[in-house]
Amino acid sequence: MSDKAKLILGDKTFELPTFTGSEGEKAVDITKLRAETGYVTLDTGYMNTGACTSAITFLDGEKGILKYRGYSIEEIAEKSSFLESSYLVFYGKLPTATELKNFEDRIASFDDVPEGIKQQIKAFPKNAHPMAVLASNMVSLSAFYEDMCAQDLTPAQKDTAIVQLMGQIKIMAAYAYRHSQGKDFVKSDKSLDYCSDFIHMMTGDKNVKKEVAKALDILLILHVDHEQNCSTSSVRLVGSSKANIFATISAGVDALWGPLHGGANQAVLEMLAEIKDSGKGYEAFLAEVKDKNSGSRLMGFGHRVYKNFDPRAKIIKVACDTVLATLGVKDPLLDIAKGLEAVALKDEYFVSRKLYPNVDFYSGIIYRALGIPTNMFTVMFAMGRLPGWMAQWKEMVEQPGFKICRPRQIYTGDTTNTYKDIKSR
Ligand code: SDX
Repeated sequence: MSDKAKLILGDKTFELPTFTGSEGEKAVDITKLRAETGYVTLDTGYMNTGACTSAITFLDGEKGILKYRGYSIEEIAEKSSFLESSYLVFYGKLPTATELKNFEDRIASFDDVPEGIKQQIKAFPKNAHPMAVLASNMVSLSAFYEDMCAQDLTPAQKDTAIVQLMGQIKIMAAYAYRHSQGKDFVKSDKSLDYCSDFIHMMTGDKNVKKEVAKALDILLILHVDHEQNCSTSSVRLVGSSKANIFATISAGVDALWGPLHGGANQAVLEMLAEIKDSGKGYEAFLAEVKDKNSGSRLMGFGHRVYKNFDPRAKIIKVACDTVLATLGVKDPLLDIAKGLEAVALKDEYFVSRKLYPNVDFYSGIIYRALGIPTNMFTVMFAMGRLPGWMAQWKEMVEQPGFKICRPRQIYTGDTTNTYKDIKSR
């Protein structure tokens, strides 16, 4: 089969190279399209556009496959840990025992943030959304670590950046929560593992059930990376200007906040609670969703890439039952979620559009069972996605031929206007 694509424009035929990835994905390489044809492509929302090649994560949306560095998400979720899978995506290999211990210890060594950051967190109103606190304090770290703001970080500085940001995002998230509760900050305890320490910094209780820590660890694993999603693409775009790593990651936090993206996990719980409180049946609620004028969506359903079950949603759904049973938690919202899913999966509207539960549909149920409040759910997503953002940024800046990202457009506005004096307008 030809490795060329033929493009006929008017009376001319152009040949464009094609590219096949290691999992068999195919692309037409349009790097030279404008120079050779004068045309650019138009692809609103980048539905068909590959922004880069990447060796970090692979999704097969039709088959519901997700792999980190070639390892299936099912195997990683079952056998790995959040910190080990973070090492895997960032360095491209599973760590030895020594490498993992060193990685874990270095993350734990970032057990606080500068005093100025703490004061800044305390300056926020208690009802501030924790994502606002996280995003603003993430970029503010640049004011306290000027040595980490160089245009090009050395390999040693990149090693520091991943452990520092993984350590400090946990601290800032816990402090933001404590401030929102009007409580004093709880100091990190290095003797605890990452997830246990986070829960301890939220609750003030060092006796964290291992099942709770394990459930959180699995949730964070499932959020580590996901190809060129909206927030990762934001990280790549901002990082491509050689903005410092704190500003670059802060852009990812901002993009993740949106309800169509990471903010969906919070929106799912609010949707389930609304169904429960209103006594609205599933059919009535879904009828609203199907009415385009209602503006409402079945949050936690649908995905740009997955046109089958999101493999993460499958894992989380099973974990839901296990975690709630272990904790002896009965959550009526879980029953509503399962009922809603069952009805939606038989409804032609969802079936014809290949809308299935995504990672956000059940994750909030577990976070709730772990005692994490709804407005912290997207912060948890950010904590899980941070290593993926860092890995994608590192891959981009180390890629030969690295360039600033600057998409083209097609102009459709007025062409020749002449200035009129204000008196004659
Ligand atoms: C995440 O990209 C990633 O990888 C993201 C993520 C990650 O790990 O980074 O997986 C995390 O963001 C998961 C998605 C969380 N968002 C939600 O759950 C919000 C609800 N879902 C949608 O808004 C929507 O499905 C998106 C945003 C996820 C995807 O939107 P697309 O690909 O742009 O699809 P679309 O909006 O063009 O929808 C196609 C059709 C439309 O109907 P028609 O115009 O064809 O009649 O499906 C309908 C949509 O109206 N539709 C929905 C729907 N999702 C799509 N209708 C009702 N409820 C929904 N949830």
